[in-house]
Amino acid sequence: MNIMVIGGGGREHAIIKKLAENKDVTKIYALPGNGGIAADAECVDIKATDIDGIKAFAQEKGNIDYAVVAPDDPLAMGCVDTLEGIGIPCFGPNAKAAIIESSKVFAKDLMKKYGIPTAQYETFDDMAKALEYLETAPIPTVIKADGLALGKGVIIAETRDDAKAAVRRMMEEKAFGESGTRIVIEEFLTGPEVSVLSFTDGQTIVPMISSQDHKRALDGDQGLNTGGMGTVAPNPYYTEAVAAECMEKIFLPTVRAMNEEGRTFKGCLYFGLMITADGPKVIEYNCRFGDPETQVVLPLLQSDLLTIMQAVTEQRLAEVDVTFSEESACCVVVASGGYPASYEKGKVITIGEPEGKTDIFIAGAKLEDGQLKTSGGRVLGVTSVADTLEEAIQLSYRNVEKITFEKAYYRKDIGRRALEVERS
Ligand code: AMP
Ligand code: GLY
Repeated sequence: MNIMVIGGGGREHAIIKKLAENKDVTKIYALPGNGGIAADAECVDIKATDIDGIKAFAQEKGNIDYAVVAPDDPLAMGCVDTLEGIGIPCFGPNAKAAIIESSKVFAKDLMKKYGIPTAQYETFDDMAKALEYLETAPIPTVIKADGLALGKGVIIAETRDDAKAAVRRMMEEKAFGESGTRIVIEEFLTGPEVSVLSFTDGQTIVPMISSQDHKRALDGDQGLNTGGMGTVAPNPYYTEAVAAECMEKIFLPTVRAMNEEGRTFKGCLYFGLMITADGPKVIEYNCRFGDPETQVVLPLLQSDLLTIMQAVTEQRLAEVDVTFSEESACCVVVASGGYPASYEKGKVITIGEPEGKTDIFIAGAKLEDGQLKTSGGRVLGVTSVADTLEEAIQLSYRNVEKITFEKAYYRKDIGRRALEVERS
């Protein structure tokens, strides 16, 4: 089988390595992939958002049997619709369903209409009204740009002035472009966060093993928000009781709601949850695999990924086996110094021989003269799997020490909180 994977980060590297375990897979193309993915797939220099280019490539090859569309942008742009239109079965939602991530207003209104627990909110497309609302809104408050904003469109404002400034930045100065034309202002919730990725074919929903992201740049959850500096799985806050409540009140109702709206969701539906004193609530939906969550979740998947994905596409997910290992995984992201603000590129990366059950997923690197060099903020993720979370964390950090490039940095406390919870 010839498979095409759209995207080029650590998540896509993890997906590609897992797909390659299937003996029927003979060729994987990554569009665009990256310098590290090139070891596991043929990289084709076509951007993930170049939908016409992707279509033309598939038509020119004429032998693509299956496609996986991983990032949010091409999903929102209808990459799946386009590829299905030329007869290529795909993993991923069509544009109509991808709106669950690409419009926060849509997602919030869906949850309100169908009684799915989430933070209280108001939506605004008029800046004056938003500013007026903030005169009396409870503080802290959370301001969200409606559209996709590279994970940066969420501002937690501790004061009324900060909240108003955030609204002006989004709606007047257009800091996130058209994504900020409409905004959501919502209640500030507290509690531990859990990421749950799920497979769904629109009828059945199968949650994957839970995980915990570490979004801030620095140890102790300090510093700027990033795409994610590391993950662990499973997440100890996600107990069996919480899982059962989520299935009943969030997962199944979401799948049904999307069907009711004529937007059947097929693919990976990601639930960003907060476990509040009033029970689990949805912080965000993503219409795709999370990154770096995927880098801990897929290494623990024991069933065949391609078989599951094809079952999702063909709406027979209920028939296939989806089993996760009882082990734990830890992924530490190694980033370029300065990330998520400005950073230098082109640093030579050396990777020592990894020990234990370890994968190095390359996110932001290119091959130049046969050398792997940094080309992005998050450069790579080091995932180790072991019997216990503590061992997985230790092993991952031992392997991280074997990685060098100039100005490399990483958080030293990935999984620390999870370990404390496990022990308490
Ligand atoms: P998002 O981009 O929607 O994942 O939001 C980024 C982060 O902002 C989340 O992971 C939360 O830590 C935080 N956040 C978002 N919404 C809320 C909320 N209503 N209350 C508290 N924290 C929030
Ligand atoms: N790690 C969070 C995300 O993928 O959106």
